[in-house]
This record gives sequence, structure tokens and C-alpha cells, in this order.
Amino acid sequence: MNQTLSNNMKQINSIEEYNAQYKQSVQNHDVFWADAAESFSWRKKWDTVLDWNFTEPSVKWFNGAECNLSENCLDRQLATRANQVAIVWEPNDPKEQHRTLTYKQLYDEVCRFANVLKNTGAKRGDRICIYLPMIPEAAIAMLACARIGAIHTVVFAGFSSTSLADRINDCQCNLLITADAFYRGEKKIELKKIVDEALPQTTTIKNCIVYNHRNTAIEMKQGRDLWWSDLMKNASVENKAEAMLSEDPLFILYTSGSTGKPKGILHTTAGYMVYAGYTFKNVFNYQNGEVFFCTADVGWVTGHTYLVYGPLLNGATTIMFEGIPVYPDHGRFWDVVDKHKVNIFYTAPTAIRSLETYGTEIFKTKDLSSLRVLGTVGEPINEEAWHWYDKNAGKGKCPIVDTWWQTETGGILISPIATVTKLKPSFATFPLPGVQPVLMDGQGKEISGNDVEGNLCIKFPWPGMARTIYGNHERFRQTYFSSYPGYYFTGDGCKRDADGYYRITGRVDDVINVSGHRIGTGEIEDAIDEHELVIETAVVGFPHDIKGQGIYAYVICTGKVENEEKLRTEIKAMVTEKIGAFARPDKIQVVKGLPKTRSGKIMRRILRKIAEGDISNLGDTTTLIDPTVVGQIKEGAL
Ligand code: WTA
Repeated sequence: MNQTLSNNMKQINSIEEYNAQYKQSVQNHDVFWADAAESFSWRKKWDTVLDWNFTEPSVKWFNGAECNLSENCLDRQLATRANQVAIVWEPNDPKEQHRTLTYKQLYDEVCRFANVLKNTGAKRGDRICIYLPMIPEAAIAMLACARIGAIHTVVFAGFSSTSLADRINDCQCNLLITADAFYRGEKKIELKKIVDEALPQTTTIKNCIVYNHRNTAIEMKQGRDLWWSDLMKNASVENKAEAMLSEDPLFILYTSGSTGKPKGILHTTAGYMVYAGYTFKNVFNYQNGEVFFCTADVGWVTGHTYLVYGPLLNGATTIMFEGIPVYPDHGRFWDVVDKHKVNIFYTAPTAIRSLETYGTEIFKTKDLSSLRVLGTVGEPINEEAWHWYDKNAGKGKCPIVDTWWQTETGGILISPIATVTKLKPSFATFPLPGVQPVLMDGQGKEISGNDVEGNLCIKFPWPGMARTIYGNHERFRQTYFSSYPGYYFTGDGCKRDADGYYRITGRVDDVINVSGHRIGTGEIEDAIDEHELVIETAVVGFPHDIKGQGIYAYVICTGKVENEEKLRTEIKAMVTEKIGAFARPDKIQVVKGLPKTRSGKIMRRILRKIAEGDISNLGDTTTLIDPTVVGQIKEGAL
């Protein structure tokens, strides 16, 4: 078996090294990525480093090779760090004991659970749904799936029963892993009850494995539901990881787009592994033995790549925090940093902005001297929040990496390299080695030079990129490779300033980003349309001080609405039931009509402007069927 990754993967330590690596990654990409891949352990080496075209599209990295991600995260670490802590679990309630798992303990648990999966009938290629709170069992389940070659699809525990059922049905999972219940702050979430509502809407689930987290009374359906602990008791701790082909599917993660139902983004094994390991080590300038705290939930891609896989591939200690930033008070993140001596802290701008509202007094009692690097992800960070974070958390000494990436990209694409890149607040700065971003103009041409703005595309493959949408390759092609033929289109707008620094300006499609959660306006519209009084809905985002974007819904109803307040409450409940509480609209305006063009298209530009409160100049409205609706909407704006 190879040495540990951290010892032999090249790390970027100066801007000259960054420039050299970047140049090599463009001019000699095969050599560059083969070199990065050498630090992992392979059962069999690749025949080719990269085969690709962005037309079909078809992308294959390290084709012909065999490896296993779980083996690279665990077995490979045992020789040098069996007794080092791999995962620290910090509970929601600080009065409860935290848990630690060393690399050896995690390895044993994963092997045992891999055998549980096999004993339950799971095999290579099966889809397994993980619907768990932020507890180590989520990571154990993911790693065990990867170990036996099953494809995990983690569903964020904030999603409703309908969303859970939709995801299970879309990729036909036959096994579900869940827990009885959990707390977020003071709120108890009865997860198994949600599962019991979801499963009758599905047909493929044979078994449901339940982890007893909170000793909550739940119903166990005979023949279907099995206790995690019972199964583990009887399982052997010996498990040899499956040799997976490089392009074998690793996981599916659902994410929202402009239209239609959420898409099952599919990532494959070897490219994702190399990219997660490489980017974690370089972006955060990770040093051996450091403690890394990523506050994202495992139900989102950040939790996959930078809470579980990236840190474990590098032999880091990763913190898994079950709670929320403001429970029991707004100092909780800093308590966790202080208690576990966190070196690298990675969170979302929305969390920073919400903590900002409480002031800085709390920092006086916390020792944050262990912090060396800070990061942000998920949405643009405004300058004010950047400076607040820098001053109060980083004490002006910690570089902040503003990391831009997406569920589809698998890992970070544009970001400073901590300690190396000269920072500019609110800029994601420069592409990582291997990443070739371009800005496109309205005619579909690349915009050259600096001090420019356009739609962000990537013109060359990187190992962590998604390979398809599960079960719908045509939708994958259509969504990402058809707007600009030959390019991957990100859906984001972007500026390149006079110094060549990249700044992401936000989505240019109908996706909104609420508190770092990505939601398609179409999904919310579909949920609201289910209300019996609603005929038609149009949802747009508007700037929100804390959430980044808030949700503004315009609804047309049948007849006269007697009680608008009641309607609003019911619509919010409808969205909670169909999607989850995080997608509830902030503002709901009842309107008589929507601004539509003669072809029936809603002019969202106008609705966005009104939602923003910018009603002075709505642009050309002469192409609307009925321009008078605009005046009515303006009058009733919230
Ligand atoms: C946005 C999250 C500005 C962007 C990893 C992207 C960002 C979407 C940043 C993906 C950033 C993510 N600056 N915007 N540093 N990071 N975004 O799939 O609009 O949940 O397209 O992946 O979040 O969201 P997703």
C-alpha cells in the first residue's frame, strides 16, 4: 500500500508554485493529474488519464484503473495514524458528551457496516438512500456504501417526506438508512415519522435501517425496519473493499435547476477522489494533524467533499457538528473552535451575516488562537461580512478562502490558495490548477482581456466534474453543454477585474440561493400551485440581508381571497410539506395577473425588480400582452 497522501502530494506553497502548477495543468494536463493521482492507492493503474468530449458529453478520468474511495480514506491511513482522531462529533446540546472516532475505530465501524449492508442484500451498483442527521453514522454509512460499491444518495434531513420519496423513486433505492429523531437547537425532528410517511409513496425500498439516536418511541414495521445496533452486533469487522473501476458511480446528489424536478447529479469514483483530496490539501493549505471544521450538512455537496471525503483522504481530523450556530447562544461556533482547537474553519456567508447581527462582545470570552485558515462557500460574500469574519474570527491573521464551486463540480474550482494567494474581499480570486474558466458574451463568444463581465463557463474537464444526471443523460447535455456548445455552463454570472481576479456575481438562471441552500424557483411554484385557491405562481429571489436571497412569490388566485393572511400561512405550510421549511417564501403577494409576453412567457426581470423594491425603471414593457398588470403589481408590492 502507498504512503499516506499528505506525505507525497505536492502542495502549493508560493505563488510561483501556483503559477508553475497552473501552467503545467493546462499545457500538460495528463502529466499533471497523473502525478496528483500517484499519491493515492490503486488496485490497478489507469490506461489513459483523460478521454473526453463536451459534445455528448463524455468524460473519463483514469480510465481502466481500479481503486476504492473508502480504502483510500481509511485503510491507507492505518499505518501512520490508526490512533489519531478521524471524526469529532459535537452534539447539538453542549451539555452532552462529544464523541470521537480514531481512524482505526472508524475503519472498524465502516467495515462492520459494509458487512451489514451486504448481509441485508445490498450489492455493488445498488442505490442506497441515507437520510440521517449530523451524526458519525452518516459518514460511516457513506463510507460503507463506497466500500461495497453501492451508490449513496444522501438526502438532507431538512427535506420533507414528499421530497424524500421523490428522490428514492427517481433513483430506485432499495435500502434506506435513517434515525429515530434528532434536535436542532430546541426543535425536535421526528425523522422516522417522516420516513413512515414517505415510504408508502415508494415501491423499491426493501429495508430501512434505523439508528437509535435519541431513544424516541417509534414504530418499527415488521420485515422492513431493522435496528442499526442489532445488525452491527452480528456483523464481522473483516471487510475487503471492492475494487471499483474509475468510472463506476460513487454517489448521486440531488440539486435544483431552473426547471423541473431536482436532478440526480452523478459523480464517479477515481476522478472525484483525486479532486477531493487535491483541492482539500491545497485550498486550505492543510498541514498534517490539523483539525478541520466544516459547518455544512452532509446532505449537501460541501458536506460530502469537505466534511467527509477530502479531510479523510488527507488523514485530517474532521469535526461534525450536529447543532446550529445560535444554540444555546450565538457563540456556539466559537465554543466548538475553542473546545476542539480547530485550525481551519469553513462556513457559509449567511451564517457569518446572521452572527454579525449579535455584535462582537461574545468574542471576548473565546480563545480562537488555534485558527489559522478561514473559508466560505455557497454564495457570494459581501465585503462587510468578509471584514467582520476577518477581524473577529481571524483576528486579522487568517487568510479567508472564498471558494466557488457547485454540486456538479464535485470540488472547489475557483478559490484563493490559503497563505499563497493575495486576497481581495468578495473575490474568489483565481482558478485552481486544472480549471480553465472563461466568460461568455451574449453572442456565445469568449470574452478576452480583463475588467470584463459575462456568463461563467469552464472549457476543459477537471477530475471532480459530474458525469451525468442519473437516468437522464440528455437532460445533462441540455442543461450544461448546450447553451455554449463545447463548454460546461455553470449558470453563474462572473466578473474578471483589471487584475484578472474572478468575482462570482450570482445565478443568471432561475435558481435562487437562500441561506446557501440552492432552490429552483420552479419547484417552489409547483408546490404553491397545489393550493386549491392558487391558479398560477411566479417565484423570484430578492436581496435579503442575512439569507443572501429571500423568496418572493406572486400568486394568482381563483375569485376573491377573503383572508390573505390565512392564505399565506397555508401556502407556507404547503411548501414545507412538499419541499421543506427552508424553501418557505418570505413574501407572498396576491396579484390579478402576471406580466406575460405574447408567447406566454413570464417576464421575470420585471418581477425581480419589483421584489427588489426597484420600481422606478422597469425597462421595456411594451411586449407584454397586458402592460397594466405591472402597475397593479407595483401598487401591491410588499
Ligand atoms: C453559488 C455549493 C459565490 C453559485 C458548493 C453556485 C457561490 C451555487 C460560491 C452552487 C462562492 C457557491 N461565491 N457564489 N464562493 N460558492 N456559490 O450546488 O451560484 O449547492 O452556482 O454547491 O452556489 O450551489 P451548490
